[in-house]
Amino acid sequence: MKTLTALFCGALLASGAHAAPFAKGDPRTGKSLHDKACISCHANMFGGDGSKIYTRADRKVKTAQQLAARISACNANTGTGWFPEDEAHVAAYLNQQYYKFK
Ligand code: HEC
Repeated sequence: MKTLTALFCGALLASGAHAAPFAKGDPRTGKSLHDKACISCHANMFGGDGSKIYTRADRKVKTAQQLAARISACNANTGTGWFPEDEAHVAAYLNQQYYKFK
C-alpha cells in the first residue's frame, strides 16, 4: 500500500547543475537589450550607470535561478515585452559581467 508513495519520490532529482548557467544566451545581445530597457531606474537609485545595484554588498540575487526569476519579474513589471530568449541573453550578460554564477 505504501509502495506508490515511494515510487513518486525518485522523480524529482533529475536536472543536475549545468556547467555554465545561461549558456544559451548571448551576452552581447543581452547588453544592448539591457542598456535600452533596464538602466534608467537603477541609475536613478544608485547613480552612474546603475550597475552598483548588481554589485552592492547586500544585493538580492544569490543564485542563477534567482537571477533568471528577477529578470523575468522586471521584464513583466516594466512591460519590456521580451521573449524568453531575450531574458536568456540578458541573464547571460548580467552573469558574465556581474554575478559570475557557475
Ligand atoms: C521601474 C524601475 C525599474 C526598471 C525599469 C528595472 N528595474 Fe531592476 N530593479 C528595480 C528596483 C527598485 C530594484 C531593487 C529591488 C530591491 O532592492 O529589492 C531592482 C533590482 C534588480 C535586480 C536585482 C539586483 C540585486 O540586488 O542583485 C536585477 C537583476 C534587476 N533589477 C534587473 C532588471 C532588468 C533585467 C531590467 C530590465 C528589464 C530592470 N531591472 C528594469 C527597478 C527597476
